[in-house]
Amino acid sequence: MDRENDVRVLQHCLAEAGQSHLLKFWDELSVPEQQELHMELKAMDLEELGQAFQKAMIGGSRLPRQENMDAKMEPVPREVLGSATRDRTQLPTWEEEGLRQISQSKVAVLLLAGGQGTRLGVSYPKGMYDVGLPSHKTLFQIQAERILKLEQLAEKQLDRKCVIPWYIMTSGRTMELTKEFFLKHKYFGLKKENVVFFQQGMLPAMDFDGKILLEEKGKVCMAPDGNGGLYRALGAHHIVEDMERRGIGSIHVYCVDNILVKVADPRFIGFCVQKGADCGAKVVEKTNPTEPVGVVCRVGGVYKVVEYSEISLATAQKRSPDGRLLFNAGNIANHYFTVEFLRDIVNVYEPHLQHHTAQKKISYIDVATGKPLKPDKPNGIKMEKFVFDIFQFARNFVVYEVLREDEFSPLKNADSQNGKDNPTTAQHSLMSLHHCWVLNAGGHFVDENGTRLPAILRCTNGRSDAIQADVNHNLKDANDLPIQCEISPLVSYGGEGLEEFVKDKEFRAPLIIDRSGVHELVKNGM
Ligand code: UD1
Repeated sequence: MDRENDVRVLQHCLAEAGQSHLLKFWDELSVPEQQELHMELKAMDLEELGQAFQKAMIGGSRLPRQENMDAKMEPVPREVLGSATRDRTQLPTWEEEGLRQISQSKVAVLLLAGGQGTRLGVSYPKGMYDVGLPSHKTLFQIQAERILKLEQLAEKQLDRKCVIPWYIMTSGRTMELTKEFFLKHKYFGLKKENVVFFQQGMLPAMDFDGKILLEEKGKVCMAPDGNGGLYRALGAHHIVEDMERRGIGSIHVYCVDNILVKVADPRFIGFCVQKGADCGAKVVEKTNPTEPVGVVCRVGGVYKVVEYSEISLATAQKRSPDGRLLFNAGNIANHYFTVEFLRDIVNVYEPHLQHHTAQKKISYIDVATGKPLKPDKPNGIKMEKFVFDIFQFARNFVVYEVLREDEFSPLKNADSQNGKDNPTTAQHSLMSLHHCWVLNAGGHFVDENGTRLPAILRCTNGRSDAIQADVNHNLKDANDLPIQCEISPLVSYGGEGLEEFVKDKEFRAPLIIDRSGVHELVKNGM
């Protein structure tokens, strides 16, 4: 009786919201399927969804609203910008500040791992992907080991025990597999209580008339609500309170797919803290107008990221008098927030964040015939919030520019798709960087005849002029295979501490510098 009543209430709500078609196949469903659909629909705020749809679409034209920001965009002004290359003399001060914050257990990292990895084409969470390095480490393991190493560095420098808690946002699509993976790998050496999983929300896909689409007769087409779903999820799972309980002051938020990510980078943290920032973004110089990265800029006096899908080609191509792209602050999805700022976002601003819409080809059940359809052109929209949409609320926003070859090589595509941002480029970026670290620390590579090998990619971080000249002289085509060289994050976080392993020594690739237990090993010719 209760159940019948519940169903009647649901029918009424759906009718009010113009979504009655969702129960069209109700009588064909088994009781468990009915229960599942009932729960799914009951959990939706249909009124809010309807409003979000209206806001996202241009009235009556069945087209998503595309805010035209081009005319209002201004580049990031110099005074908010710090640079790992131009402000080299400041780096030790920033690093020291960052390590001090870390040593006091005031820094947390937050991983956005709710995406579906559609472009990479895997059915499991991207962090579980074996990128094909000599060690076969996954992205999750690499990040976990960097956290461990950084804790050790901060502890050593300031002589006190510390913890960098790791918050991991998953979605309905990635939660169970992610948790199982961490359990299976014993949290990669981290303490279980310092790895906090929480789940973002999902939103239904709709057609251009705002009708929610069915994936199956008893199942709605749902997708994660974008990485900006973070803020609602922080509130729903009381994560900010958890951060406050732990005494966290600064949070580094980042995406799962960047193999070079410097989690809780002390220089970035120290820079933001010393500038008194509540919000910050790490960027690399965007050099190709069509590169799929958002650009950090100002729009109408507030900071924003204009996403690659939302900028016009003409604006993306604009150049400054020095020949560089005018909007060249390429967003690498590494953000800094204070806990106070996040608390305000969760409590005050989150409901005001607008959804971004993307027109998609969405497979669905045709309610007229009950048949599944696979459209060959976009037939509906997915709505998402973006993680950087809160920049506009910052009181003191800063931007920190780093070198691409040191810090940015995202894994987006499968090898077969195109030559960019795929497992091969990710492997090459990491190994080229590690090769540079070995050179910087005074080591050399030789071929089977004992002749010294050239470096593949240029990277300038902290290198002496003599080595730079050597590297430049030997600079080869980027398509060349890099020297197989992988250094465990447990040995070095950012190239430091390698002299004892490599100085004045010659190595044959492949080289893995690894650490097991308290003994550090250099294995040659593995
Ligand atoms: C993202 C940035 C883009 C930046 C680029 C750099 C956003 C919205 N865009 O673009 O400005 O230049 O990275 O590589 O941040 N995710 C979730 N939940 C979701 C959707 C995504 O947690 O619902 C996570 C993914 O797991 C991933 C990250 O967000 O870690 C980025 O998602 P992805 O879709 O790959 O972003 P891009 O379009 O590449």
